[in-house]
Amino acid sequence: MIDRATVEKILDAVRIEEVIGDFVSLRKRGANYLGLCPFHQDKNPSMSVSATKGIFKCFACGKAGNAVTFLMEHEHLSYWEALRYLAKKYHIEIVEKEETAEEIANRMRYESLLVVSEYAQKFYADVLWNSEVGKAIGLSYFRERKFSDETIRKFGLGYAASRPLTFSSAALKAGYKEEYLVASGLCLEREGSGELYDRFFDRVMFPIHSISGRVIAFGGRTLKTDKSVAKYVNSPQSEIYDKSRSLYGIFQAKNSIAKADKCILVEGYADVISMHQAGVTNVVASSGTSLTVEQIRLIKRFTDKITIIYDGDAAGIKAALRGIDLVLEEGLSVKVVLLPPEDDPDTFAKSHSLIEIQEYIEENEKDFISFKSDLLLQETERDPVRRSQVIRDIVQSVAVVPDPILRNVYVEMVAEKFEMKPDSILATISEFRRKKRALERSRRRFDAGPQPGHDPGPSFIQDPHPGLDPGSPEDLPDTDIATPPAPVDRYALKDGYLAVPERELTYYLVKFGEYPMYFEEDMYYGAEQHDEITVSQYIRDALADDDLVFVNELYRTIFERYYAFLATLPREEAEAMQQRIIRYFTAGDDPAVARAVLDLILEEHPLTVRTYEESITPEEQALGRTVPKSVLLYKLRITDQQCTATAKEITLAQRGGDQDNLRDLVARLQILNTVKNRLSKELNRL
Ligand code: CTP
Ligand code: MN
Repeated sequence: MIDRATVEKILDAVRIEEVIGDFVSLRKRGANYLGLCPFHQDKNPSMSVSATKGIFKCFACGKAGNAVTFLMEHEHLSYWEALRYLAKKYHIEIVEKEETAEEIANRMRYESLLVVSEYAQKFYADVLWNSEVGKAIGLSYFRERKFSDETIRKFGLGYAASRPLTFSSAALKAGYKEEYLVASGLCLEREGSGELYDRFFDRVMFPIHSISGRVIAFGGRTLKTDKSVAKYVNSPQSEIYDKSRSLYGIFQAKNSIAKADKCILVEGYADVISMHQAGVTNVVASSGTSLTVEQIRLIKRFTDKITIIYDGDAAGIKAALRGIDLVLEEGLSVKVVLLPPEDDPDTFAKSHSLIEIQEYIEENEKDFISFKSDLLLQETERDPVRRSQVIRDIVQSVAVVPDPILRNVYVEMVAEKFEMKPDSILATISEFRRKKRALERSRRRFDAGPQPGHDPGPSFIQDPHPGLDPGSPEDLPDTDIATPPAPVDRYALKDGYLAVPERELTYYLVKFGEYPMYFEEDMYYGAEQHDEITVSQYIRDALADDDLVFVNELYRTIFERYYAFLATLPREEAEAMQQRIIRYFTAGDDPAVARAVLDLILEEHPLTVRTYEESITPEEQALGRTVPKSVLLYKLRITDQQCTATAKEITLAQRGGDQDNLRDLVARLQILNTVKNRLSKELNRL
């Protein structure tokens, strides 16, 4: 960690025009500098840099900040990485904040492992370029595969020979400690004698880089066609290498991924390299493992659009299908390109020009809905059973999309494609989401063991300092940086407008939460007939369905505590449970909460959704109608506010002449209006 005084020193030394000038050519224009903005496709210089104020601002795309944020955005560095970069640039010695002995030891060990890996990369590259075997076997293999010298150097490829040219002996001679050689996975210890030997030999070597370009692992490919030899040997997991959090090529690709606002995902090392060489540089590989959530989050730091290009064979298709839901679930959009069955990205990139590759991708890129339906409906279009299975499969994918607006876009797409009513799709989605949540809940409870399972539920509460990681080792991917887009712009919300329905829902919760709801036929918002459900389950599901969290802090607190406390209660008769819950709140140590709950249970004013008719039937018998109404009303108001906020943004975008953004916003407004209409219609039906 860098101490405060050093941070100040760095910031004092920084000349923003010099920092940005390293990446963008700047011309002096009066007191300021002007250059092409690197954050959008800038045709005329629209980025202004003020040397005196130390800030930059793009008048076209609106991006603005200081030297540190410029580096964070442009070079995708964390806050601390950006400071270190600046310290280096301005020759400022970093005084690390006092570390404990253990911290120092860990950092040194971590750094040592990186140093060993870097040495190994240099060693293998040196063997490749300068030794007889390296040139004769390794280099000629790469050249045969049409990798240019430039490409081979760019990816740091190498060759691992066998005795006497071993890494172990060279590294020991160069003074690297056995401990680190073994811990990095590069060397193994012979049993008995303890002598070191190489993990990699007779293989061409692909170094794997961290996001900031440090070598953290290797993949070694055999040149033998002998089936008894493993095609690849890879570095084992280590303190510096976590396979599930790494992506091959991310370092070389990150800038163009951000620039293209799209990440192409392929399977193998060779695929990445050949695509790069062909000029398609926003490519990474999951390296033969199935895609993980952490890998997707890594991509999410640079873009929210993934295009999967796997082989056109059965295995490739299967892998693509598996990836889709995972990507969707992380809130990214996903497209799939299938190559001709005889090709993989490597061979395809080699046999086509850049233009041809780009055209092929453009023409064959399918959103997941078309991809799945084309694939799964081949030849069986007419079979109604098959058709409904396929639709269900697709809808299941839609159901995992976290952003309700985006989910609605997909619903409309599915509805159009299969000529269905959106309502019926929504019903299926609610059902899927409810089941999924129930599953997650029981899993969490199971994981948490017997103690009260505190379920924070969906939450918009975000890290107030995203990106300010406390100086962890720089290569550990800090996957939490990307916070999901909040579906509701909370600052645009007027508290009062939503506080009414939030209060109402809280009322039902504290007064009737554990009572069962009885529905008349299609009373349940968006779902088919279902098993018995309590008011608290219903409200929780209905809000979670659209990732909603109460805006009002008091009601949100009550909401969260309600479910946390509920998890500790044994199931018993509804009324008894409700009594316990009310006592928990009213006798609790938070007077504001106690007061609010008291007010609610003593409520006498008619609530917005209760009609005269309902006011004369006992409340607990009408819950099946009043609670859904209350939920709908809440959702309607939220959507309404989103409409207003979006309309405002549209006006701003019109003024700023931002066409792309404008198109997105108008599309968003249309969807919001559709949602609003649907909600009103349902509300009227109840
Ligand atoms: N892989 C692996 N171990 C294996 C086979 C494959 O780790 N035994 C990983 C590698 O990361 C490889 C990727 O899976 O790059 C894709 O496998 P494959 O298509 O077989 O390898 P390519 O790299 O495409 O090899 P080549 O084109 O040279 O046959
Ligand atoms: Mn291949």
